[in-house]
Amino acid sequence: MTIAITGSASGIGAATAAALTAAGHDIIGIDLKDADITGDLTDPALRAAAVEQVVARSGGVLDGLVLCAGVGPQVPDPMRIVEINYRSTIALLDALLPALRKGESPAAVVVSSVASTHIPWDKNPVATGTEAEAFAQAGDYAGSYAYAASKNAVTVAVRQRAVEWGAAGVRLNTVAPGSVDTPLLQAGMDDPRYGEAIRNFTSPVGRNGRPDEIAALIAYLLGPHAGFIHGAQFVIDGGTDAQARPTAV
Ligand code: NAI
Repeated sequence: MTIAITGSASGIGAATAAALTAAGHDIIGIDLKDADITGDLTDPALRAAAVEQVVARSGGVLDGLVLCAGVGPQVPDPMRIVEINYRSTIALLDALLPALRKGESPAAVVVSSVASTHIPWDKNPVATGTEAEAFAQAGDYAGSYAYAASKNAVTVAVRQRAVEWGAAGVRLNTVAPGSVDTPLLQAGMDDPRYGEAIRNFTSPVGRNGRPDEIAALIAYLLGPHAGFIHGAQFVIDGGTDAQARPTAV
């Protein structure tokens, strides 16, 4: 199978690329650097060029797509967090649907976050396009607000595509990790505003996740045993969501 992966140079994306390569698949990695295709996916021209290159390298036939590229709450501009984690991610997802439609048992996985559960869609300023004002009012919490809003928006966007993508024959799901030991998590833990809260976000199983554990779930969702899994979100967080919201389903 030919599978494109964004964020392939680091963390969860790198672990996913390694797992899928070991399973014998052809990987097209996309990242800011150290990848088959390089460029900032928030730049519409570079994103369009990345799509063209994926189509060229895959012969226009893509069997899998994994969208991992993203940033954490410590990024100074909250609007950029939404741009990377939500808008660019969904724009790329939509742009690659035609190539996925031609694939063999095609499937896509978007990496959201357990933070997607922290703001419901009806309270998400991204839903009404009022995020600039909302983040400005949030002061020091703007980054974590934008991160949760961006991840809620990406999860909702995937669910909103379930009917169209199902009819197109392409399965589409999200995974929602809790804290996973990667450079992104480390940057959050080092941040003076959010570091303490992120360090205290401990899971009932008593440790953070490893990138290879998230990669294994992504590989399963792309694979032949997941044929009836579509439009779903898989929380993989050592139990932190169950700990925080035991009665929410
Ligand atoms: P990471 O920082 O190790 O990897 C992210 C990759 O995305 C990097 O290689 C980076 O260069 C790339 N990237 C970022 N912005 C980009 C852009 N504009 N254009 C192209 N590439 C870009 O981070 P990690 O932890 O592996 O994160 C992967 C995904 O998992 C992200 O979407 C993140 O929000 C999500 N996630 C991570 C969690 C964690 O605790 N590590 C928890 C929940 C979700």
